[in-house]
Amino acid sequence: MRILGIESSCDESAVAVLDEARGLLAHELFSQVDLHRLYGGVVPELASRDHVQRLLPLVRQALAKAGTAAGELDGVAYTAGPGLVGALLTGAALGRSLAYALGVPAVPVHHLEGHLLAPLLEDRPPPFPHLALLVSGGHTMLIIVRALGDYELLGETRDDAAGEAFDKSAKLLGLPYPGGPELARLAESGRAGVFEFPRPMLDREGFEFSFSGLKTAVMLAVKEAGAAINDALRANIARGVQDAIVDTLTGKTARALDETGLMHLVVAGGVSANRALREALQAAATARGVEIYFPRFEFCTDNAAMIAVAGLARLKQGGSADHLAIEARAQWPLTSLRAPGVH
Ligand code: KG4
Ligand code: ZN
Repeated sequence: MRILGIESSCDESAVAVLDEARGLLAHELFSQVDLHRLYGGVVPELASRDHVQRLLPLVRQALAKAGTAAGELDGVAYTAGPGLVGALLTGAALGRSLAYALGVPAVPVHHLEGHLLAPLLEDRPPPFPHLALLVSGGHTMLIIVRALGDYELLGETRDDAAGEAFDKSAKLLGLPYPGGPELARLAESGRAGVFEFPRPMLDREGFEFSFSGLKTAVMLAVKEAGAAINDALRANIARGVQDAIVDTLTGKTARALDETGLMHLVVAGGVSANRALREALQAAATARGVEIYFPRFEFCTDNAAMIAVAGLARLKQGGSADHLAIEARAQWPLTSLRAPGVH
């Protein structure tokens, strides 16, 4: 089977071609970062308009690189949510129409299922069941993944997501958008322990997170520094922010491993590209004899390869849509998903 994947839920336009036997044949991505930088964040209407212009050329490019004619495709997977509804509609309309024109099934994919399954693209894929830490710009979740479509949510954030905490702190430090990777870079030259920011919920039972207090603490630190703020101080604050987020995520994940007894850990979503987080989680996993799985760096953040891999998994199990609806849902709980064929 060979499948086309389309991602357009936020500010990346991406298309990939995945072959069941030969693996990933092509993955193309256009990031709208430059378009939104001027506004300090994603402007939904601009995102939608740009996807309209980018997606079809990306489809042609991906098929050419994959050496695949459109007629050789066995299905078209597209991100159906959650995300910005206008942005989602562009990819959904294109994906559904292509599938119709080619006479193949369309597979509406849950964006977070894509993130969760991204490690399946690597040489050493994680077995089921496993624990997953999903950390992105919109979500922070600890999930027991029993099988495709069988997800038990152990806990999630009560307010800001981990990526959002990175981004908002970065903004307060005057770093350019998108702030998460910029803050991580700055933190590398910062000293640990100069700023001790709160690690909310870490000492509490359960697996909930809360990151909204962090931005208030950063705001106060910046205010207190006043005119005396300089690069060294900014780096120390960045280090304090990163350490607080990494400690919180690692502490809760370690506890979830201990309580569930699961021996395989998947870490996915944009924040899983963070090196400090990868190192801390690796250490926690090694100490417990747990195997850890990350997507490669470029597949941590939004991409279409993960949509193709999730789409292919569902297609193989008979999970395509048998109607012509263009599915786009701004809100779509991960736990409402079922394995294909299960109602
Ligand atoms: O998964 P993703 O690309 O989009 C969503 O589905 O949200 O995640 C984007 C998030 C942003 O908040 C971004 O700042 C964060 O991931 N991020 C990072 C790093 N790379 C991306 N945060 C910290 N360190 C990084 N290296
Ligand atoms: Zn994402």
